[in-house]
Amino acid sequence: MASRLDYRAPLDYRDAMKNQTFVNHPPPVEVPADNRPLVAPIYQSVKFSFDDTAETSSHLRGQRAGFYYSRTSNPTLRQLELSLARLQGRDECLLVGSGVATIAAVSLALCKQGDHVLAFVESYGPTRYLVQHLLAKFGVSHTLLSIEDRDGIERVLSQTETRLALFESPTNPVTKIADIEHLTAHAGRTGCLTVMDNTFAGFHNHGGFAVDIFLHSLTKYASGHGDVMGGAIIARSELIARMRKDIVSMGPTLDPHAAFLIQRGMRTYFLRYERQCANALAVSRFLQQHPRVRRVFYPGLETHPQHALAKRQMSDFGTVVSFELDGGLKEGSRMADALQYFSIAASLGSAESLVVPPQLLGGQDYTPEQRAASLIGPGTVRLSIGIEDVADLISDLAQALDKAFA
Ligand SMILES: Cc1ncc(COP(=O)(O)O)c(C=O)c1O
Repeated sequence: MASRLDYRAPLDYRDAMKNQTFVNHPPPVEVPADNRPLVAPIYQSVKFSFDDTAETSSHLRGQRAGFYYSRTSNPTLRQLELSLARLQGRDECLLVGSGVATIAAVSLALCKQGDHVLAFVESYGPTRYLVQHLLAKFGVSHTLLSIEDRDGIERVLSQTETRLALFESPTNPVTKIADIEHLTAHAGRTGCLTVMDNTFAGFHNHGGFAVDIFLHSLTKYASGHGDVMGGAIIARSELIARMRKDIVSMGPTLDPHAAFLIQRGMRTYFLRYERQCANALAVSRFLQQHPRVRRVFYPGLETHPQHALAKRQMSDFGTVVSFELDGGLKEGSRMADALQYFSIAASLGSAESLVVPPQLLGGQDYTPEQRAASLIGPGTVRLSIGIEDVADLISDLAQALDKAFA
């Protein structure tokens, strides 16, 4: 029996309605069960209703499947959650409204007053902010090490009871590689949960390591077109279940339309990532032989100090290429201003190429020691490589380097 509020209620039921009532109960459009849309429809509905109170109660008690309120769950989000969990090699996923929201939500859901968190100098700026300021406000202490400091990692994990180790690989912007096996082994021995922001490496990398929780900014490679934001928390179901109530109660929900756009972006995820990686390697090799470039940071280059580790851990090397100009802020901005095919913009991972000159790279809050560990210098430029024709990208970089040093 169709319920009072079901938009699929039979038409004759609506005949008696006044128009002001009718517009709130629009006529049904039935899609036959054997006539499926090839792209799943967007469930742009906040609410879902069952036929009666008993069925609704049964759902809310977890005794029957279905959906009730989209802040908690929604079919369009569920399709994306199931896809991303599988790609990352875990069995559960929870979507939120941005990449940063994943970091805040997981930290707040898992930490309590008096806990300690291990984080890294090379981590994304807002991650460090969350650890140093937001968690600190709630009495959670932290240690900030360089991701290369293996002795420090062992010392902290063995001497200080640590709730979370929050890390990235490759790091931003200079693409240092975390030794994931080393970190997860030492964390696992002491019951510390490892949380890896895997945005740079993508869903197809790192799933085989004993990382407890993967975070992704879906704003980057997943959506791929720079037109939507989102975040994914991916882990074994027991861990997601432990965090779900707290995170849902904070309300960082992803909108169904955003989930639909991200799901659409995922159809070309592998093609884009592969092309972007090939372009990134070609751009790195070009920069490496340029007389005005002192050093190139790309894990796919044999000269990268952690190339062997990157090769062991990853199937490809990402799409961010950074380099140190034989100059400083002035040359960095002149080069960025002269580029035609690279926009000066934040973010990464979309189809188009971007550049961040040294003035706009983060790390303004670093102590002198942290700045030294970050390897960000006055001539550091970050490129996010897109899917354009690589010959165009290289000739654009060549002319911009000429102008920067003219
Ligand atoms: C490694 C990493 N994590 C998280 C984020 C944040 O993602 P969002 O912009 O979707 O909040 C970014 C954004 O640049 C990032 O580079």
